[in-house]
Amino acid sequence: MKKTMVLASMSLLWVGSVHAADSDFAKGKQLFQQQCLVCHSAQLDPPQAPPMFGVQMKYKMATDNKQAFVERVTSFATHPSKDKALLTKPVKMLGLMPDMGLDEADVKLIAAYIHDETFAPPYKHLQVAMRTSQQRGDKQAYRHHKQRYDAMCSDAPAAAVTAAPAESGTLKAIMQQLGRDYAAVDQAILMQDFNAAATAANHIANHEKPSLFQKMKIMAGLRTEMSAFKQADGKVHALAVDIEQAAKAKDMPLLIQRQSGMLSACMACHTGYRSKVKNIFN
Ligand code: HEC
Ligand code: HEC
Repeated sequence: MKKTMVLASMSLLWVGSVHAADSDFAKGKQLFQQQCLVCHSAQLDPPQAPPMFGVQMKYKMATDNKQAFVERVTSFATHPSKDKALLTKPVKMLGLMPDMGLDEADVKLIAAYIHDETFAPPYKHLQVAMRTSQQRGDKQAYRHHKQRYDAMCSDAPAAAVTAAPAESGTLKAIMQQLGRDYAAVDQAILMQDFNAAATAANHIANHEKPSLFQKMKIMAGLRTEMSAFKQADGKVHALAVDIEQAAKAKDMPLLIQRQSGMLSACMACHTGYRSKVKNIFN
């Protein structure tokens, strides 16, 4: 029912034709706004389709260059099929994207635009996902969305952020900075800015250490688990060094591979210790 309404309102949007745009990027953007945003807007509650921030990331991770990206997105969007879909979860939750008989030349322009655009992290979308998983009582899903939100959206508009900024020098403040640096690496990858990626990764590798007082409290609280906690920190450090190297070598596939490993390395510690350490300080 909802889908039919969306599709009906879309056909109205399709009537509008593209004016002489000064660049392919501008044309692609306009077509994207007319043909895709109605479902792919990250502001929709409930969501109708995955936000482009994630779609772009997934397709960049699956392709080596812009041409391959454009071909893969175009192939999917003109004739969606389960075989081609990279996003298995959205397919399960929202159903396969409908085949809308889109014009291939238009979709190619759109796909090139999607490749080059810098999409904001889907703040609102993740908030909705947190809320609905909480309502369902699905703690695991809630944690997953919350962690993504915390890791990516520390720059979210003030009203959207629930936690207050922490005092500097505390583990919490260090973590908030890591969150920003991590997001900066993501952003730099999306912009194909190797220098910015190297700088942000260097900040992660050389992040501030908690004060001795904080460290002692953590050690006292975690006791025998302290060595595993340190190991988790060591993994993030090593990976940050590797990311910096891949960025300096301008090796995009390697950079993407290592950066996506980073989220797992951050989460490995969060899953085991975040709530425990929080309890120590509260
Ligand atoms: C009627 C709603 C709707 C419209 C309009 C729409 N999409 Fe989608 N799209 C979806 C849904 C739902 C999904 C998630 C399920 C899936 O992946 O098939 C999706 C997923 C995608 C994916 C990821 C597919 C995958 O799983 O690998 C791409 C790429 C995509 N859309 C591109 C586009 C482009 C480009 C446009 C505009 C030309 C567009 N979409 C318009 C609903 C829509
Ligand atoms: C060695 C363990 C460990 C590693 C590795 C780790 N974190 Fe954390 N992180 C924590 C703990 C513990 C907290 C909770 C601190 C608190 O609330 O006092 C936390 C909290 C956070 C927060 C939330 C801060 C807030 O406002 O409450 C963010 C954001 C964050 N981490 C980002 C990251 C990122 C990004 C990485 C990887 C680059 C990372 N963390 C790696 C242990 C870790």
